[in-house]
Amino acid sequence: MPRAYSISSESIEAERVRIGGEAEKFDISRVVQLDELELREMGPSDVHLRILAVSGEHNINHAALADTVNIAELRGGKIFPGNSAVGVIIAAGDRVSDFRVGDVVLTHCNGEPDLYGFPKRIWAYDMPESIGWYGEEAVVGDWQIGKAPLECGLNLWEIAALPLRAPTAYHMWRRALGIYRLKVPRDRQAALNVLSFGGGTGECFLMLARSEGHNAYFCSGTAERREALEALGIHGIDQNAFQRFRTKADVKKFTDEVKTITGGEGMHIVADMMRGPVFPAGMGALARQGVNVSAGWQLSQLVEYNSTICSVKQVTLDHTHYETVDGCRAATEFYGSVFKPTVHREIYSFEDLPRCFAELEANTQTGIPIIRVANDMPETVAHLLD
Ligand SMILES: NC(=O)c1ccc[n+]([C@@H]2O[C@H](COP(=O)([O-])OP(=O)(O)OC[C@H]3O[C@@H](n4cnc5c(N)ncnc54)[C@H](OP(=O)(O)O)[C@@H]3O)[C@@H](O)[C@H]2O)c1
Repeated sequence: MPRAYSISSESIEAERVRIGGEAEKFDISRVVQLDELELREMGPSDVHLRILAVSGEHNINHAALADTVNIAELRGGKIFPGNSAVGVIIAAGDRVSDFRVGDVVLTHCNGEPDLYGFPKRIWAYDMPESIGWYGEEAVVGDWQIGKAPLECGLNLWEIAALPLRAPTAYHMWRRALGIYRLKVPRDRQAALNVLSFGGGTGECFLMLARSEGHNAYFCSGTAERREALEALGIHGIDQNAFQRFRTKADVKKFTDEVKTITGGEGMHIVADMMRGPVFPAGMGALARQGVNVSAGWQLSQLVEYNSTICSVKQVTLDHTHYETVDGCRAATEFYGSVFKPTVHREIYSFEDLPRCFAELEANTQTGIPIIRVANDMPETVAHLLD
């Protein structure tokens, strides 16, 4: 049976008992455990994948900490997580026509599209029976994969960084821009000021804004990430200079700084995947008619805002989740040309995956964390392993 990582109610409970109420001692690497997985039988529209590389996604931390919901418990006591992967097809069902054995593919995580194509549930998270991709092999329906753009100019690790974050950012950007343009058409204002906070999704969001000629600003606490984005023409703002918005005075200092760097105008579009103390900073930075867009909740699920001020400034708050399946494929067209992700300096081995998630939580990584799952790589990706 292939090896795969799981998160179980038991491992969460054992860790809770171990730390005895001292939340800061919670060790995610003890909760994400190496397990074995019996693959389901192949159906006619399924493919059998050998997983090559995966990216560390933050919802694994939410699952292990059980801080939003206890998803392992809700899913019957155990989940096999993993929302994005690069894999190679080792077998394909009779009715699979768009892919063949040997193709290197990406997975997305739209679990159950609604009437309009947007996910009601996320694959390997709240979608019942769904098995994720933090394992050596997987069997999935062919609707769940797309061809990996192997000649886009990115290496394999950079490609592996994007299948979840790029579609999320692509969706957020097209929504935020569409909303803003409903209010302020292009003939009144062409170049927008766009701000995002630290995180791989926020980085992709700004890459899209910059590629369309807008002024993009990245507020992050990590020098390496800011430098990588500055090389793409995206201005860095050191979040530590504002103590990560610990007090109202820090937020005021930040919003004053935003006014200064934008010539008194403010930000027309803000992406905030963090919430918590980042939310008032993002709202305070908004210009009149501004749009604040989010698909995340890393530091808090709840926000509070002054509705009167939002009305007077005609500010819009928009909530998104994840792209449609078509949108995921469209976002892939921008790999390498627009999306140039910053990857953490260590490529983790499969056995080190639990440590990767502990380090993601400790926020010590210099870019998006990648885990190499396969030791043997297919010849087709040999030139992408630098
Ligand atoms: N709905 C969806 O489809 C979807 C998709 C992707 C992600 N998400 C959610 O969005 C959130 C972020 O994900 P991501 O992939 O963009 O980020 P990520 O790549 O996992 O990175 C997290 C970032 O958070 C920043 N951060 C950490 N602690 C912070 C703090 N105390 N204050 C301010 N910033 C802090 C860090 O940036 P610096 O240290 O550099 O400032 C870090 O780079 C997570 O909650 C995730 O579950 C949702």
